[in-house]
Amino acid sequence: MNFNDNLTGYLPEQRAFASRVQALLKEREVANPKAHIVTFGCQQNVSDSERIKGMLILCGYTLTEEITEADFILFNTCAVRGHAEDRVYGNVGATKKLKQANPNLMVAVCGCMAQQQSVADKFYKSYPYVDIVFGTQQYHRLPEFIYRRMTSKRVYELELDNKEIVENIPISRDGKLKGWLPIMYGCNNFCTYCIVPYVRGRERSRDPQEIIKEATNMIKSGFKEIMLLGQNVNSYGKGESHGVNFAKLLRMINDIEGDFRIRFMTSHPKDCTEELLDAIRDCEKVERHIHLPFQSGSSKILKQMNRRYDREGYLKLIKAARDRMPDVEFTSDIIVGFPGETYEDFCETLTLVKEVKFTSLFTFIYSPREGTPAAVMPDPASREEKGKWFNELLIAQDEISEQLNRSLIGKEMRVLCEEDLGDGVYSGKSEFYSSVTFNGTPEVMGNFVTVRVEKYENNTLYGTIIN
Ligand code: 5AD
Ligand code: SF4
Repeated sequence: MNFNDNLTGYLPEQRAFASRVQALLKEREVANPKAHIVTFGCQQNVSDSERIKGMLILCGYTLTEEITEADFILFNTCAVRGHAEDRVYGNVGATKKLKQANPNLMVAVCGCMAQQQSVADKFYKSYPYVDIVFGTQQYHRLPEFIYRRMTSKRVYELELDNKEIVENIPISRDGKLKGWLPIMYGCNNFCTYCIVPYVRGRERSRDPQEIIKEATNMIKSGFKEIMLLGQNVNSYGKGESHGVNFAKLLRMINDIEGDFRIRFMTSHPKDCTEELLDAIRDCEKVERHIHLPFQSGSSKILKQMNRRYDREGYLKLIKAARDRMPDVEFTSDIIVGFPGETYEDFCETLTLVKEVKFTSLFTFIYSPREGTPAAVMPDPASREEKGKWFNELLIAQDEISEQLNRSLIGKEMRVLCEEDLGDGVYSGKSEFYSSVTFNGTPEVMGNFVTVRVEKYENNTLYGTIIN
C-alpha cells in the first residue's frame, strides 16, 4: 500500500470529520476497524476507489481483502452496461447477513449506478441496511458521510453540481509500479448509447500544475508507468483559461525527470488532432499505443451514435498516426448490435477491423441504458443474431492478433517487467501494447529490460533479455 499522507490542501472540514470518526470508533470500542472496497467497471472507478481508500485510512480504518471481517463495506458501481448492475444488486443484498453478525458494520454504495436517481432510490428504499448512498461528484465528502451516519440518519447525497475539482484527497494506491492519474472528469459528448454524461456530469479538467505535482510525486516514489485517465483525454483543457491542451500536457509530463513511461486513455477520434499525434511521436516517454475507440465501422451507425466522425475520417486518422509512427499499435472499443444495426452495417465493422489490424479489442454487445436516446430507438435485430455477429468479430480478431504477434518475432522491445510468474519467468508490457514473457533474475522485477521476441505459442509471446 502506498498512502500519501501529505494532506495540506485537503478540505479542513473533511479532515476534522475524519478525526471525529476516529474518535467515535475508539469510543465505541471498534478494535482495529477494517474497510473492504468492491470496485466495478472502468479504470476511472479503480482510481476513484484509491482515493476512497485514502479517505477511509484517514478515518482510522485499515483495508482488508476479507469482506466478512469488515466494519465498512463500500461498493463503487458501474452503469455502462446492464450485466455489471445485476452483479451489484446481488453483492449489496449479501451484506444484510453480515450486518446481522456485526452491528458496527456500515455499508455504502457509490459510483455511476448510484448516481442514477431511480437506482439510488431503490437502494435507499429497498435495501434498508445500506447506510450511505452517494454520487460521483461527492466522493471528497466521505469522512463527513461516515460521521453523519455514525451520529444520525442514513445518508443520501447525489448532487451533480459540476463544481471545481477537489484536490489533495488522500490516496491509497493499489500498486507501486503502475499508477492511475486522472486528468479530467465527466464527458460532454453524449454518444446516444452512453450513460456516462448523465452520471459523471460535465467535462472538467484538472489544473496542469496539480497533474504535474501528482506525476512528479508518483515518479519520486518509484512508479514506472503513469496512466493518464479521462473519458476523453483528447479534450483535456477545453474551456479552461490555462491554455494547456492534451498535446501540451503530454510534453510537460514527458519533461519530468526520471525513467518512466506515459500511457493514456480514452481518446475520442473526433478530438485526436495532428498536434497530438506529433506530441506522441516526439515524446520518448509516451507509449507507441493509442486506444482509439471507433465503436462501429458503419458511417450510418456512427451518425446515429452521435460520434461526430465517419468511417473515412477514422481511417484517415489511423493513417496520419502510422505516417508519423509506423509501428504504433492501436486498440479499440466496439459496440455490436446498436439499435437498427443490420448485418451489412456489422460487416463494415468487420472490414474496418481487418483493415486497421488492432492489437486487441474490447467488444461489447449493445446494452440499452435507460434515459439515453438509443434506448428508445427501434432495435429489430434479436439478441441471438447479435451474439452471432459478436462471435464472428471475435474469430476475425483472433486471427489478426495471431498474425500481428507472429510478425513481432525477431523484434526488440523495451519491456517494463511487471509480473513474477515463478521459476525465474517474468512478464511485462512493451512500449507498444503487447505483453511478453521471458526468463530473468529477481532484480529485473519492476525495471525496464530490452527483450528480443523469439516465438509465439499458446497466445503468448516469448522473448530473451538482451540487456
Ligand atoms: N452498451 C454497450 N457498450 C457500451 N459502451 C458504452 N455504453 C455502452 C452500451 N450502452 C462501451 C463503449 C465504450 C466502452 C467503455 O463501453 O464501447 O467505449
Ligand atoms: Fe460515453 Fe461517448 Fe463520453 Fe465515451 S465519449 S464516455 S462513449 S458519451
